[in-house]
Amino acid sequence: MKEILSFKQAASKSLTEEQLRQVEEVEALGCNDPYSFLQLKEMFEDESVDNFICCDGDKIVGFATSKCNKRYYDGCIYIINLVVLPEYRKCGVATQLMEVMTKFYLKKCADLYITLDVTKTNIPAVKLYQKLGFTVPDFATKNKGDDEMVMSQPLTNLAKNIENLKKIKVRNSCTK
Ligand SMILES: CC(C)(COP(=O)(O)OP(=O)(O)OC[C@H]1O[C@@H](n2cnc3c(N)ncnc32)[C@H](O)[C@@H]1OP(=O)(O)O)[C@@H](O)C(=O)NCCC(=O)NCCS
Repeated sequence: MKEILSFKQAASKSLTEEQLRQVEEVEALGCNDPYSFLQLKEMFEDESVDNFICCDGDKIVGFATSKCNKRYYDGCIYIINLVVLPEYRKCGVATQLMEVMTKFYLKKCADLYITLDVTKTNIPAVKLYQKLGFTVPDFATKNKGDDEMVMSQPLTNLAKNIENLKKIKVRNSCTK
């Protein structure tokens, strides 16, 4: 029976081996060049990385990882990874993961920009970030190769944009 999706921050070292295997599966199904199990385990156990997960009951169906990094782009919140299981896509899961992440950082570092790298040809991701209000900053274009682009915006703008998009709900009618 279908359960309601839940979204939360996953504290460092809080995921079991089984849950990390689920993260690995989400990653493998979402990325051309996926992080290995050990890399993901390190990421989820690194206290400087913040992890956010979406669960359908006990099953992890999406996750995001990010960090506040003073060395990236003169100090920003950097999104390392955002992946959703294929059968849960286009239901608002990524948008809601971004919302949980945004609320978390608003309490810690509301004055920062939130920044990411995306492959230009990754249309779902580019469209998602554009919809959330990310744009390509002038400073970023000259440092990047042809395939990748940097997108960024102030965290407070993202929070407002997500509020404006609140009508996007995780729809219970999504097929899986
Ligand atoms: C990119 C990704 C995370 C989006 O997750 P998602 O849960 O499907 O995203 P959402 O449902 O929140 O989508 C929000 C908006 O993003 C855009 N979008 C998402 N998927 C899209 C697609 N396949 N085609 C076009 N636009 C898309 C739409 O504007 C959508 O709004 P709408 O549903 O009102 O049209 C998901 O496709 C994924 O896991 N891809 C593989 C991993 C990846 O590329 N991650 C990004 C790394 S930078």
